[in-house]
Amino acid sequence: MAGNRTFTMIKPGAVRNGHIGAILQHINAGGFKIVAMKYTQLSAQKAGEFYAVHKERPFYGELVEFMSSGPIVAAILEKDNAVEDFRTLIGATNPAEAAEGTIRAKYATSIGENAVHGSDSDENAAIEGSFHFAGTEMF
Ligand code: CMP
Repeated sequence: MAGNRTFTMIKPGAVRNGHIGAILQHINAGGFKIVAMKYTQLSAQKAGEFYAVHKERPFYGELVEFMSSGPIVAAILEKDNAVEDFRTLIGATNPAEAAEGTIRAKYATSIGENAVHGSDSDENAAIEGSFHFAGTEMF
């Protein structure tokens, strides 16, 4: 059965470009409830841990540097079929391929600086949510 939670980050580029409010509004309009949220900055070490699955990829160093380059908004979101529906809402990883009207089509500038992260499975949503939030910070 599909789970009802996913995890997202509004990435440093979208924060720098002033898109926090518009992206949160888009998420709310998509029917997602915010279960947990914080404005924070990842250290290079923490960003490296979060994206450890990509360690062998050629873009890993660039990804870690970018994700630790400024503040992010981290959030856990709730909705039926949350992981799949959120990935539809944000669009393809590469904004050049993201469907019109999606968050990445509107606010991403490149594949590396693609505005938002979205979990790719229920299992990873739980792992990623716990990476950023204690149980007492989820509502
Ligand atoms: P995200 O969904 O946060 O998960 C991994 C990230 O790696 C992805 O978004 C992209 O921002 C980034 N990424 C994936 N492919 C590339 C690439 N070819 N070059 C740079 N960054 C990439």
